[in-house]
Amino acid sequence: MLGGAFKGLRKPVSLVVEDAEEGDVSHLADIHREGFTQAWSDGELAKLIANDSYFCLVAREKGKSGKPPSAFVLVRTAADEAEVITIATRKSVRRKGAARQLLDAAVRKLQADRAISLFLEVDENNDPAISLYRKLGFKTVGERKGYYASQDREKPSTALVMQRDLG
Ligand SMILES: CC(C)(COP(=O)(O)OP(=O)(O)OC[C@H]1O[C@@H](n2cnc3c(N)ncnc32)[C@H](O)[C@@H]1OP(=O)(O)O)[C@@H](O)C(=O)NCCC(=O)NCCS
Repeated sequence: MLGGAFKGLRKPVSLVVEDAEEGDVSHLADIHREGFTQAWSDGELAKLIANDSYFCLVAREKGKSGKPPSAFVLVRTAADEAEVITIATRKSVRRKGAARQLLDAAVRKLQADRAISLFLEVDENNDPAISLYRKLGFKTVGERKGYYASQDREKPSTALVMQRDLG
């Protein structure tokens, strides 16, 4: 179990990062819905979490037993490479270090498993996420034009492919 206290822009919050549990699924679906217009159902998330090629870490407020997760990251592994499938933080807890702690913990876990490279895709318009990934050492290594469709935009937007070495 990995923990730490971080001062956010508002109230400081202490978080603990741990493996997701079966009972977290509906909360994770809620968090995903808050962060993405194309949300996943409880069933879709449960299936991914149960898949051996994936792992899911959650961040909970420390010292509150049974507290639902405030954020989560879902990672897929394949041989010595891995991909961040999704990461999201509840709106009420954003900018308090949850996503950073989750990615740091995922990187440590992957390094322990001898993975060498971590990839992700992010909408070129998603400034908070791009800023987070750059801060954690990810570099843009490619792009997929017209990748993300959105009702709010006329044209689908480009996905940046970002990568970080784990060695
Ligand atoms: C992107 C997201 C996961 C960040 O979660 P978070 O827990 O608020 O992020 P953190 O508090 O760990 O932020 C770490 C760093 O990321 C960057 N960052 C995070 N949110 C930011 C924002 N709104 N604006 C600018 N930079 C931001 C900052 O560099 C921040 O460090 P700082 O607070 O010391 O300046 C969150 O905004 C979210 O859930 N968004 C909706 C879902 C999403 O877009 N996921 C990514 C899909 S690729």
